[in-house]
Amino acid sequence: MKQIEIDGGHILEGTINISGAKNSAVALVPAALLSDDVVVINNIPNISDIDALNEILTYLGAEVLRENDTIKINSKNIINKEIPESISKKLRASYYFMSSLLGKYKHVEMFFPGGCSIGARPIDQTLKGFEALGATVIEEGNKFTVFADKLVGGHVYLDMPSVGATINTMLAAVKAEGETIIENAAKEPEIVNVAIFLNNMGAKIRGAGTSEIRITGVNKLGRGFVEVIPDRIEAGTYIIAGALMGNNLKINNIIPDHIDSLILKLKEMGVKMNVHENHLFISKTENIKPVIVKTIGYPGFPTDLQQPLTTLLTQCSGTSYLEETIYENRFQNIAYLRNMGASIEQLDKRHIKINGPTNLTGMTVEATDLRAGACLVLAGLVANGKTIINKSEHVLRGYENIVEKLNDVGAKIKINEI
Ligand code: EPU
Repeated sequence: MKQIEIDGGHILEGTINISGAKNSAVALVPAALLSDDVVVINNIPNISDIDALNEILTYLGAEVLRENDTIKINSKNIINKEIPESISKKLRASYYFMSSLLGKYKHVEMFFPGGCSIGARPIDQTLKGFEALGATVIEEGNKFTVFADKLVGGHVYLDMPSVGATINTMLAAVKAEGETIIENAAKEPEIVNVAIFLNNMGAKIRGAGTSEIRITGVNKLGRGFVEVIPDRIEAGTYIIAGALMGNNLKINNIIPDHIDSLILKLKEMGVKMNVHENHLFISKTENIKPVIVKTIGYPGFPTDLQQPLTTLLTQCSGTSYLEETIYENRFQNIAYLRNMGASIEQLDKRHIKINGPTNLTGMTVEATDLRAGACLVLAGLVANGKTIINKSEHVLRGYENIVEKLNDVGAKIKINEI
């Protein structure tokens, strides 16, 4: 097991450079399979989720060359075979292979994907997208076999703007015959990143980033190149670190537009910040105001920053309220924050109330999932004394070099292998 150990209370000064977005990269890598030629993806983050996807690519017979933050994938000689459950359950994004293999070979056999345990996370909308393209879905226990003689453009209305279902339907539809329309599509920047990549390979996708995406099928996808967008959730996490412990901390390589919902919320709280075109400066501010926050799909406040933000809400002067609308089990961090001294009341499954400010004290806690872990890292940075976060593999799945990045700006943090 990996443990993150933090000696709290140190001011953060200097620059943190933001890496490529996990949730883009984990879709771009499976999307590469749709090409019949070599594709190149730049600004790939060095996180364990990418290692797991590379394992699947290699298992299928793709040639994968990874050098620094660039990955070159040649899928010419892949064999379309069942992806073992032992690999697919390592992460949620493994199911992007379901759609790219279906799109390319009209047949795929795969198991239910893994991912953080933050709710039920069904895949019904993805399967509905496949069926709208004329595919048959056979579900046996945990295993899905999806096939079609040919995929034909269809019209799908998503019951909720699901990121995964939007990307999966796009991937399955790029080589279908005729036009596919996805309505009530998710609008996250990661979806635009994937559409740009596919279009660069020769696909015809319009409307990505809006709630209606139109895809005109093409026969062949060829060479392609894409740069992974900066990770808005990683950026948001370090911005919150700056609001907790920063002294003019620079968060570099960001697209501020992508995190407007956080930036504006912090301004509402009275946090000192200077936002520029691709970076911002942020400092710890006394007497920050409490706020009401509700998570919602992009451009709303992201569920992935809800847990990290909770740490900052413990430092506001007054009572804040937080509503989680996306996942039914994303408050597993609360018990640990309480142990550290936070005053948080869970009002019902979806709502919490945070009274601040409270001093936090270092404790041994556990990362139950990726963003719960990020929340506890932030709590450790601001707490008095030593915080030990067990099961920190979860954190390393999504934050490239988190220990190095935080140490470089003055934190006292290390990883223990036990
Ligand atoms: N949903 C369904 N049926 C479906 C699909 C989704 O009911 O077929 C529900 C989900 O249960 C959830 C909501 O719709 O309540 C939204 O789910 P969505 O499909 O949008 O989420 P996802 O694609 O599984 C991605 C990110 C998550 C992020 C969400 C929301 C990846 C690999 N994961 O998940 O990231 O929270 O979008 O923005 O892109 C994280 O990075 O920590 C993380 C969990």
